[in-house]
Amino acid sequence: MTFTNFDAIPRDRLPALLRAMPKAELHMHVEGSLEPELIFRLAQRNGVALAYPSVEALRAAYAFSDLQSFLDIYYAGASVLLKEQDFFDLAWAYLQRAAADNVLHAEIFFDPQTHTARGVPIETVIKGLDHACRRAHQELRISAKLILCFLRHLSEDEALATFEAALPYKHHFIGVGLDSSERGHPPEKFARVFDRARAAGLHVVAHAGEEGPPEYIRSALDVLEVERIDHGVRSVEDPALLARLAKEGIPLTVCPLSNVKLCVYKTMAEHQLPALLAAGLKATVNSDDPAYFGGYVNQNFVETFAALPQLGAREAYVLARNSFEASFADAAAKAGWIAQLDAAFAAAAQ
Ligand code: ADE
Ligand code: ZN
Repeated sequence: MTFTNFDAIPRDRLPALLRAMPKAELHMHVEGSLEPELIFRLAQRNGVALAYPSVEALRAAYAFSDLQSFLDIYYAGASVLLKEQDFFDLAWAYLQRAAADNVLHAEIFFDPQTHTARGVPIETVIKGLDHACRRAHQELRISAKLILCFLRHLSEDEALATFEAALPYKHHFIGVGLDSSERGHPPEKFARVFDRARAAGLHVVAHAGEEGPPEYIRSALDVLEVERIDHGVRSVEDPALLARLAKEGIPLTVCPLSNVKLCVYKTMAEHQLPALLAAGLKATVNSDDPAYFGGYVNQNFVETFAALPQLGAREAYVLARNSFEASFADAAAKAGWIAQLDAAFAAAAQ
């Protein structure tokens, strides 16, 4: 650790520091950043009928009891995305918000099957998103990369067909992931397609241990050979697994507001992030689906630290540093970002 003078940062300076500190975001579904206002704008532009009469009525429906109750609304919202410009507008809106939260690097999930199932070509999806990432690098000075996710409630054959269709655009994404309904869809269902992705030189990650049991985290590691676990909070139920994740330095991309909105925890005060950090895990803080869960990455940091007195300046530094170290960027980029993080903390300690 480079910066060490944590005692010089009083607790009342923490919210401003959490917002100002440079960070990476590694777990954010671009379809989950589709704000109700943009849903209505795109619905009108594309002539798509919506089940809700107004932005307010749609937002009022965002009360979820579990992951599936959210996914049903999330897939319905994505139905307004049809043209390359729509995917550009979606990703560009997110990247502007991320830059405002001092995100220096974002690894962005997208769900091509949500769109190809409606007849949208995969090329349309990838080109629109890629255009926004390239423009953000130029104009917002934010590094943005894409990770293609397979929907685990669908078959492995469908994932394989999606992977084949995406291969001509492989230079536009850095990895593959696994998302959607977790229970009943264990990681090993996707062993072959993850083998293919690794053989193609892509990074591999998977959602595991959000609602699913700790065994899903083990099989994501052992069968899919993932480099990071998305969520992974249920690892706290299994001390041997916690020890393994710490020893092997496997990053966890934790999403605190998501966990509360989807009733993984009743309140933020019950969130297990402090336990994960205390066990030595390389945990990070992320927004998951910011348009649906009450905020972008800075809101996640501020609300989590406000609810959990065990989290202070030291944990803020560790979480931000972990976000860079756990990213798929090269060593030189990581070193440059961590130097900026050290400078932000040194300024806050003055
Ligand atoms: N897709 C979008 N958000 C997700 C989540 N939190 N878990 C699984 N799949 C998702
Ligand atoms: Zn997610």
